[in-house]
Parts: sequence; structure tokens; C-alpha cells
Amino acid sequence: MEYIEEQRSEGTDPSASPFESVDTNTTPDTEYSLPGSPISKPSPPNDCRSVARQKLAQLTLEEKVSLLTAADFWRTKSIPSKGVPAIKTSDGPNGARGGIFVGGTKAAQFPCGVSLAATWNKRLLYAVGQHLADETKARSANVLLAPTVCMHRHPLGGRNFESFSEDPLLTGKLASKYIQGLQSKRVAATIKHFVANEQETHRLTIDSLLMERPLRELYLRPFEIAIREANPWAVMSSYNLINGTHADMNSHTLKDILRGEWGYDGTVMSDWGGVNSTVESIKAGCDIEFPFSSKWRFEKALKAVEEGRLTMGDINAAVENVLTLVERTKSGDMSIEEAEREDNREETRALIREVGAEGITLLKNRGQVLPLDPNTTRVAVIGPNSNRAIAGGGGSASLNPYYNTIPLDSIRAVAQREVVYAQGCHIHKWLPVASPFCTDKSGEPGVTLEWYSGDRFQGDVAVTQTRTNTDLFLWDSAPLAQLGPEWSAVATTYLRSRATGKHTISFMSVGPGRLYIDGELALDLWDWTEEGEAMFDGSIDYMVEVEMQAGKPIELRVEMTNELRPISKQKAFNMTHKYGGCRIGFKEEDQVDYLQQAVDAARAADVAIVIVGLDAEWESEGYDRKTMDLPSDGSQDRLIEAVVEANPRTVVVNQSGSPVSMPWVDKVPTILQAWYQGQEAGNALADVLFGRQNPSGKLPTTFPRRLEDTPAYHNWPGENLRVLYGEGLYIGYRHYDRSKIAPLFPFGHGLSYTTFEYGRPSLSRKVLTESAPIHLVMAVTNTGAVAGSETVQIYIRDDKSRLPRPEKELVAFEKVFLEPDETKHITVSLDKYAVGYYDDSVPAWIAEEGTFKVLVAASATDIRRSIAFEVRESFTWTF
Ligand code: BGC
Repeated sequence: MEYIEEQRSEGTDPSASPFESVDTNTTPDTEYSLPGSPISKPSPPNDCRSVARQKLAQLTLEEKVSLLTAADFWRTKSIPSKGVPAIKTSDGPNGARGGIFVGGTKAAQFPCGVSLAATWNKRLLYAVGQHLADETKARSANVLLAPTVCMHRHPLGGRNFESFSEDPLLTGKLASKYIQGLQSKRVAATIKHFVANEQETHRLTIDSLLMERPLRELYLRPFEIAIREANPWAVMSSYNLINGTHADMNSHTLKDILRGEWGYDGTVMSDWGGVNSTVESIKAGCDIEFPFSSKWRFEKALKAVEEGRLTMGDINAAVENVLTLVERTKSGDMSIEEAEREDNREETRALIREVGAEGITLLKNRGQVLPLDPNTTRVAVIGPNSNRAIAGGGGSASLNPYYNTIPLDSIRAVAQREVVYAQGCHIHKWLPVASPFCTDKSGEPGVTLEWYSGDRFQGDVAVTQTRTNTDLFLWDSAPLAQLGPEWSAVATTYLRSRATGKHTISFMSVGPGRLYIDGELALDLWDWTEEGEAMFDGSIDYMVEVEMQAGKPIELRVEMTNELRPISKQKAFNMTHKYGGCRIGFKEEDQVDYLQQAVDAARAADVAIVIVGLDAEWESEGYDRKTMDLPSDGSQDRLIEAVVEANPRTVVVNQSGSPVSMPWVDKVPTILQAWYQGQEAGNALADVLFGRQNPSGKLPTTFPRRLEDTPAYHNWPGENLRVLYGEGLYIGYRHYDRSKIAPLFPFGHGLSYTTFEYGRPSLSRKVLTESAPIHLVMAVTNTGAVAGSETVQIYIRDDKSRLPRPEKELVAFEKVFLEPDETKHITVSLDKYAVGYYDDSVPAWIAEEGTFKVLVAASATDIRRSIAFEVRESFTWTF
């Protein structure tokens, strides 16, 4: 028997731009000066492809084919005799989690994608990439499965939090910096998920139906920008189909566009379990399948070669790409992979805090309730997210952070007056995990797991483990090497309640599972049929009420196996066993009136800070949200209404990765959108609340008034496994502009504790040609009393075009930091990409002759300046 102890660890000239409104292209050229450096392109380590080619030439056919599938869940296969090491991948994107999904090696948790995007700060994104490279190396990995660049097509998208924006340019530019940062330290980026993967509902089988223009102009665009500007060494194909063909075997997107038009020279890997054929997938250019599986490749690929359905050329091309990734990240380093380690550094902590504070977006600040004076303000901190760590969304982006900072603690650390706290309400989707109340057989916190080979609990216990969490997600961490493909396991833990009462225990199971309480069968899910949302393939959550005495333990024992459930899936998927797991939750009976407590706390304070939102259960990979309302059942809306009535000086802080409805928006003077900010969430929030940091976040995604106003409302999430991207080019602000619907808060919106004035923009020339970009220069002045940063957004409006185009599109942005009264000039380059659209009748990108307006804006609905230029002769291009 083996015993595995799971890790338990703890040149400016202000006068040059008078502030007057102009709409002209006659500004004198003298105001213009050339910008500094050209776009930086990270150079890949020298000659990786030719080394890969030399290695390829030495491999047998079997060896070659063996490289086209992963060796295990995270690694590629090594061939030591030929000097080919294995490389290891790790999720991604807001940290480097390492090999274990729940309770693995502790890792730095950065703000999630949308929060990073809210900074609009390219310099910070580069720094984040660099720090993530160090974190990836500390997990002994070479490839980070990030960044996620899918579009925010609909506010309910389960993974919106993980990706950047509804705008492809903002996404592509920020992703490029992130990738450059990562790869500057020789860790490969894996830009994902390629492509048209905007929803989680039926994500493995949904067919995204879309026209060529939106495909090019919106969904492929971030990939295109990143490949041009940062050359990510890997691309991950998505799970879905695109216009009838799965992404891993889609020769239009992978072969014609990615490899063909864009000349991509990196490696394409499948999403986990996202290979759907043998021949088509290899031929289309999905080089390596993850994770290990014998379903599509190996013998089947060899047979296809034998039968001439795959050529040696097909195999060689894919293997060469895999070897190139190995060369780029590890060369011939055959040393043994080191164990994962922690690397909890001060400078990473400081960066996370800085990036977190820069992402916080001040949506509203009527009467300047913020910033708070820590010396004089009596603060009440209220709400379900105040006294717990909401660090990230759920799914593969989640990790075990080095530490968490909790808003209530961080606020208390700064405030000089007493801070009162009230939870206000519950919002759990599932009962909270039982772990904080649990000890294992040896009396240590956690759960004992005893594993058996085979699914009948027979013979001796083969492996014993201790796990810290009662969220026993076993997808990637069952000790299969010792057990074989079929297993059974018994999880035992002792639960002590703090209070005496009628408490609730919940249980959900992935495979067959039974929960016994003190030896009595309490919940039998052996043959469950109703699918839930947790744990990807789990049942719904079942509850049982138990009378408990304070401090007196009860024994919880779960028997489970990895047989596939519901049984009907066995036939459908042609398999009997997959992965198992279970989740045990616990909640003590309520003994207080939460709402009344909150109202009392708000009344007694000068300012009430209500921290609400979603969490990793409500917003996660694996499923989409069902509604834009704050969960659950209106509890948070009622709380906010009651608090603001008790104290009009109320600040609402919303933590979510995507928009939520705000029926109380007009009653509340101040609203902060705080996203999910990783391990420094509490500190970053306190920094902004007390004015230690002046907020400068701007929305990377529109906040609509109602779900019914949103672009994909009628086409979400599709039917019969097809989803029509019927809104075409009009997602995000492109839709609100065109439909003339006023959003709640527009794209690009975000306030500051200071004010900014925009000067008169000037252009370096009045005519744009293919080879001669135009440079725009403009002064920005801080006209308020405190230092702050402003992001200037540049949109282009095409006055007249052959095909319909959005009213305006973001083409550039620049963030500038200014002391009070300071003026700086920003410089922005406008090239063919700023004016082009995709004309599929050519087919190519086209810049049409005519006039283009440059709209200089503080948000999509706050246009401050405008100026025009021309394209005199139409021209086209492909990349
Ligand atoms: C996700 C990917 C992730 C992979 C590995 C998949 O389910 O879609 O984004 O990188 O799992 O965890």
C-alpha cells in the first residue's frame, strides 16, 4: 500500500493643444513628432524549427505518432533515446495552477482576464506575463494554457471573466503584451480557444454558425493581432464546431487562415478531450491531442498511414510542430522534472495589488462619497462577499492561492475608526464546502481517501490520501497508475458544528456515490440521473438535514466509483468509466435576521459599503449563467435597497466577471465594479476605497440595462446543438450604437477621483496609404486635485462603405498617468488595420477610399474630440 500525503501548505507642450472642439483635418503638421519604437516582436530562440527537423529525421514512425498525443494529463511524451524531453503544461490564465485542480501547490493568483483588461494598461499586461512565466517555471511547467481571448458575446457567458472583452482590438492588444511577457522568459503561451467558443452550454457539441465577416472581424481578430504582434508558440483549438466542423479538424480556420493566410509557425494543441477524428484533425493541423487518450490517435493514426488516408507529410508536419514547441521551451534538456514548488515573492504580490487596483472601475460617484477619509469615517461593511475571499471564477482558471486578502480585513487595516460588519444575506449556489468543519481519521483538517483497484471496493486499500477539501474533484488526480482505469474509493471525514441546531449537509456525485452519516445511509446517488452544473459531469446537489450538538463530531463516509453516470451516457459515449468525484457541503442553521443586522449597521455608520456579486460557483467554466440578476432569488438586491434606505451614503462594490442587473442603480450614489482580483482582492479594494489608489479602470464590456437589450438575446444559447451568431458584426457597443439603445454603463466607461481634459488632436498627415500610417498626437491634462491615470480611446467611423459597418470601432487606446495640473501628449499610430474591414467577395481585408473620422473618446458614449483623414485609393490585404 502506498501512502501519499497531499501537500497542505499553508516632450510636452501644453499650449500646443488648446481645448476647443474641432472636427477638421487641417491641424498643422508641426504639432506632430514621431513616436518612439516600432512594435516589438519577441524573437524565438534561434533555429528551433531546424533543430526540430533534425530530430524528426531520426524518429521512427511509431515514435512520431506517439508524439501526437500527450503522455498524461499535462505532459507531452519524451523520447530519451532521441534527445526529446517531455514538456509540461499548466492552466492558465490568472496564475499557474500546476498539476492538481483542487488543493494543489499554492500559486500566485492574479486578477482574472476581464479585470486585467479593465486596466487598459499594456505595460502592466507585459509585467503580468513575465511574472506568470516565473510562476509557470515554479510549477515545473514550460507552457501556460493562456491567455483566453474569446469574445464577450453575451453577458451570461460562463467564461467571460476569464477572457478580456467584447472588443477584439482591446483583447488582441492586451493579449499580445501578456504573451510577449511570458515568452520573454521562455515560457510558451497557448492562446485559446480557437475559435467561436463564446458559450459553455453544450460546449463540446455546440455548432457556432457565423458568417465570414464576423468570424474575421470579431472572433478571429484577437488571435490575428496576437499572432502578428507576439507570435504565441501555441494555439489551443476549441471544443465547439464552427459552421459544421469541429474546431480541431476545421481546415478553414486552422489550415486556410491560421497556417495559410497568417503563416503561423507555432503548435496547435487540442482543448482537453477536444479531438474528434483521426485523419481530419491531423490533416487540418491540430498537432497534438491533450490529455493522453487512445481514442483517436496511436494505432488509429498508424493504421491511417498504412491505408494511405494519412501521408507521411501529414504526420511529419504535425510532429515537427510538436518538436518545435519542445525546442522553443526546453531544447534538449533531459534532466528529470523537478517537483512543483511555491515561489511567493514580494514583487509579485505588489504587482498583483497594483494591477488589481487599476482594474477596479468606478461606475458612479454622485456627491463624491469616495474616496473615504480613514481617520474620520465610520464605515459599515456589509454584504455576502465582504468577509470571504472572492478571488476568481470557477473551472480550469481556478487555483490554490498563496493567500487571500478579504475585503473586511483589508478595510479594517486602513480605517482608523471602528468598522462594523454585517453579512446581509446568503448567496450560495451550492452549500459551502464542509472542509472548514472537517477532520480526517488522524484528527488533522481534511478528508481521508482510501482507493481500491476496480470498481467493487475489493481487496486491500491500494492508495491512501489526505485531501484538504471536501470538493473532491478527481478528474485529473486519481492515482490511476496504481489503480488502473476502474476504481472505487471511500472518503471519510468527521464533521463538527460550532452551534447546536438542525443543520444541512449536501452531497453531489460524479459517478455512483452514497453518503453515510454515522454509518446510516443518508443520500443514495448510486444511480443518479439529474445532471447538475458543478464538477463538469456531476449530479445536482442533494440535501439532508441533521440535528447536531455543538462540537460533537459526526462521521461522514462516502463510497464512490468512477463508473459513468447517468447510465444512459455509457451507451451514448461508448464507455463505461470516466472520472469520479464528489462534493460535500455544509451549512449551519441561521440563527440571526441578516437583513435587520445590515440595516442596523448601516444606520450607525457614516458610510455603508455593500460588497455583493457573484463567485466561482455562479460564474464558471462548464456552464453559463441563467440570469443577469444578482443571486440568489433577489437576496442581494433586497439587501442593497434596505441599506441605501437606511443610509443614503452607500457604496456598492460588485464583484463579478460580467455584467449584473442593477435595479437599484439610481438610488445608490456610488458603485465600484471590482471584478475578481485574485489574492490581493481585499487590499486592492481598500486602496481604492480610501484613495490610496485613484481608480482608473474602464469597462472592457458593456453593462446593459436589461438582458433583453443585449446583442445575442434572441440567439442564446441556441437550440438542437446549434447557435446562430445572428447579430453578426454587432456585439457589444457596436450593437448599442446601431440599435440606439442606451446601456446602463457603456463600454470604456470608468470614473476617477480627478478630472481630465482632452486637447485638440492633430494628425501627422491627412491621407492614409498602405505603407504610410498616420500618427495622432493629443494633449491630456489632469484638471483635478489628485494624481490619476486616464485611458484615451480612439474609435474610427467609416463615413461611407460598400458593405454595412458598425458606427464606430475601437482602433487604439493609450493610458497616461498625470499629476494634478500636468499635461502629457499621447501619440497613437493609425495604419491600414484601423480602417479595414473584411470583404468576403474579394476575399480580403479592404481599406476603401473615402473619409474616416477619428473619434477621441473617454468611453464609447463620451466622444470628446474628432478629426478626419482620407484614404484616396482603395487597397486590399490578407494579413
Ligand atoms: C479548458 C481549457 C483548459 C483545459 C485544461 C479545458 O476544459 O477548456 O481552457 O486549459 O481544460 O484544464
